[in-house]
Amino acid sequence: MRLAFAAVAIAAACLQGADAIMPYTPITGLVAAVYTPFDEQLALDTSVVVKQAAYLNATGVHHVLVAGTTGESVKLTVAERKQLAEAWAAVAPTYGINLFIHVGANAMADAQELARHAASIKAAGLVAMSSTYFRPSSVDALVSQLADIFGAAPLLPAWYYHIPSMTGDNYFRGFDMHALLVADITDGETSLPTLRPRIPNLVGIKFTDYDLYTFKRCIDFNGGEFNLLYGRDEQLLGAAAMGAEGAVGSTYNFAGVWGNAVFAEFKSGNISKAREYQRSIVNLVAIYGKAEYAGTDPGKEIMNQLGVPVGPPRGPAKPMTADQITQLRADMKAVGLIPVA
Ligand SMILES: *[C@@H]1O[C@H](CO)[C@@H](O)[C@H](O)[C@H]1NC(C)=O
Ligand SMILES: *[C@@H]1O[C@H](CO)[C@@H](O)[C@H](O)[C@H]1NC(C)=O
Repeated sequence: MRLAFAAVAIAAACLQGADAIMPYTPITGLVAAVYTPFDEQLALDTSVVVKQAAYLNATGVHHVLVAGTTGESVKLTVAERKQLAEAWAAVAPTYGINLFIHVGANAMADAQELARHAASIKAAGLVAMSSTYFRPSSVDALVSQLADIFGAAPLLPAWYYHIPSMTGDNYFRGFDMHALLVADITDGETSLPTLRPRIPNLVGIKFTDYDLYTFKRCIDFNGGEFNLLYGRDEQLLGAAAMGAEGAVGSTYNFAGVWGNAVFAEFKSGNISKAREYQRSIVNLVAIYGKAEYAGTDPGKEIMNQLGVPVGPPRGPAKPMTADQITQLRADMKAVGLIPVA
């Protein structure tokens, strides 16, 4: 937990004359990286959001990340991202869902506008990946970028979205996320924490990588100050063993029951049972990777087949053909994925 956050945010609130800081509780359990619903013409269809929320609630998932990677954020306009966030804000209270909005964008002004908008709709927090074309080339550059984004909504808790497979392996494989935390805490000067964090509202990392060594170092950093959310569903049990108590992923849109069971069985000490649920998630993720589905978005179609019509993906991904859907239904049955309601 980031103890300094409350004090710094209160100070910021006083300076800015704002009335209250948003209470922050570290995220535990599953966060669904929700799909963005489109109609057959690929227009945003926010009428589906209530169905997504109901499905998540029925499967015991109470946090959502809106317009992240799964949510095709980079294919959406800023206006669409705001409209989508508002649709979630409208239904979230009914289902007791906490709303986390991904605000990363290649244009800094867009990211800042989305951050301010997230604050205005009373989101529970911000999440941002780095820019993805001109990418930060050092930890220092990354910290500066995040400080500019998260500084636009300084009273909301914020999570850095680490996903090197999408934002650029070549740069980020050399980055130690542990170094990001050190740089944030110390202003990059010494190894000793100072009271001048560069990103005062940074409370954690959505860590989407297979590197459990670095994940563990981040979890343990500064006495467990940061809230680490693990982002590789197929390795959830390994992350739980390292200390993860929260996770973000796409399979939690439709297989939240399995993800919850991995955490629950791990906590209760039934590791063999936890492994069984993990195997189900692994089998599910293996479907995504099948060569016959290359160029499509199998996860999105799984959602459609379960009765939550999030529609086709925007390009360059292609909608599935009828033959692919027939095969997908067989694959879903084979891994035991059936509609909850
Ligand atoms: C959410 O799920 C719980 C547990 O299944 C259920 O009792 C409750 O009625 C659901 N909420 C809504 C608004 O449907
Ligand atoms: C773990 O769960 C399995 C399946 O439900 C059960 O057969 C087994 O006895 C449990 N083991 C422990 C140690 O509780």
